[in-house]
Amino acid sequence: MSDQTEVKAWSGRFSEPVSDLVKRYTASVFFDQRMAAQDIRGSLAHAKMLARQKIISADDLAAIERGMAQIAGEIERDEFNWNLDDEDVHLNIEKRLTALVGDAGKRLHTGRSRNDQVATDIRLWLRDTVDAIDGLLKNYQEALLKLAEEHAATPLPGFTHLQVAQPVTFGHHLLAYVEMAKRDRSRMADCRRRMNRLPLGAAALAGTTFPIDREFVAQELGFDGVCENSLDAVSDRDFAIEFCAAASLVMTHVSRFSEELILWMSPRVGFIDLADRFCTGSSIMPQKKNPDVPELARGKTGRVYGHLMGLLTLMKGQPLAYNKDNQEDKEPLFDTADTLVDTLRIFADMVPGIRVKPEAMRAALKQGYATATDLADYLVKKGLPFRDAHEAVARAVRAAEAKGCDLPDLPFAELAAFSPLIGEDVYGVLTVEGSLAARNHIGGTAPEQVRAAIARARAAL
Ligand code: ARG
Repeated sequence: MSDQTEVKAWSGRFSEPVSDLVKRYTASVFFDQRMAAQDIRGSLAHAKMLARQKIISADDLAAIERGMAQIAGEIERDEFNWNLDDEDVHLNIEKRLTALVGDAGKRLHTGRSRNDQVATDIRLWLRDTVDAIDGLLKNYQEALLKLAEEHAATPLPGFTHLQVAQPVTFGHHLLAYVEMAKRDRSRMADCRRRMNRLPLGAAALAGTTFPIDREFVAQELGFDGVCENSLDAVSDRDFAIEFCAAASLVMTHVSRFSEELILWMSPRVGFIDLADRFCTGSSIMPQKKNPDVPELARGKTGRVYGHLMGLLTLMKGQPLAYNKDNQEDKEPLFDTADTLVDTLRIFADMVPGIRVKPEAMRAALKQGYATATDLADYLVKKGLPFRDAHEAVARAVRAAEAKGCDLPDLPFAELAAFSPLIGEDVYGVLTVEGSLAARNHIGGTAPEQVRAAIARARAAL
């Protein structure tokens, strides 16, 4: 339709149509049509309430329900004709409804505004998304737990400052990411809890003169209650910001894991290999197998942080109540959700395909004097003050370094020269297995503790 013939839902007030550019600039239908199912759900609950309150007739309600069922089918079959002239998802659906059922369609918007309608739709949409993300985080945790179980006793050099520090088990290392995901899930749950209040009834900003029943609509739509202030209900998008903040932390954690996968897969380290289907080759270097998936996850983290910053800035300084600025909340929100969903799906799939190379991990441990702290602890247990023990072991490490061997490779006579407290039993603590088994307390890396931690995590899932 041309500008001249088009009649907008609000055009009665205007003397000239908007230009094509303005139309395109102000429209949101090409991205907010993603909320069509939520828009219909919200409208049906609203209409049901209007009928119960005798604001519309039972016949009107039946017509609205019939029309909406048809529209839902058209959208599902991709037969719905989305029209830029109708601005957004709300007006597109309402216009089609009126075309299908006549005046009943025109009565649907009684006691409602697009301002409380859109605030409701986004919350419904985001609530579904948060639930899906919770399931994906759980799958990711399960994949990590399974691999951790296989490697509950596989020694890996634990690093600080990216220098070999002390032996840990690979299972213990993976469990750190299970813990991060646990907190990520609880942040998402917090966000969901605060978000799950009904804005409808706020109308444009001040409420409505019709005798509505907001609690009924809240119950119909699965909200825990209603937003208690109409101005706040239509204007704030803090729930979207909270979601992007929680999503940013998920991506932070995924990017840390990604960085480790990339490092571990480097031939210079060689601790793991990723299944071929998560890697790509080079168009020029025939030998290359690149960890593209973790690299992209690391990169996409920046994009999610950007959306968080965008939404914070969108909200900053906005006066009450609704402002059109808020229409800009959707694209960053959708892209954040899409990025998170894809990333978590791919990680849950990629983790079981990690091929662990225990020999390489053990070889790295041999090169880093990883049991030096164990030797110091041994001396302390025999009565030496810790600082003196530290000094004695530092000298032993220098001697081993000069010989180009690891501490347990030093002959007893040489080792004993560093302290009269060193006995033949010292080799029991200098081995990697001895070192691991000794850290046998909750949160420690001993294989026994790793298995117990896995059992606790599984029970909590
Ligand atoms: N498309 C709009 C949005 O996303 C819906 C609300 C429009 N309200 C208005 N008064 N123009 O925010």
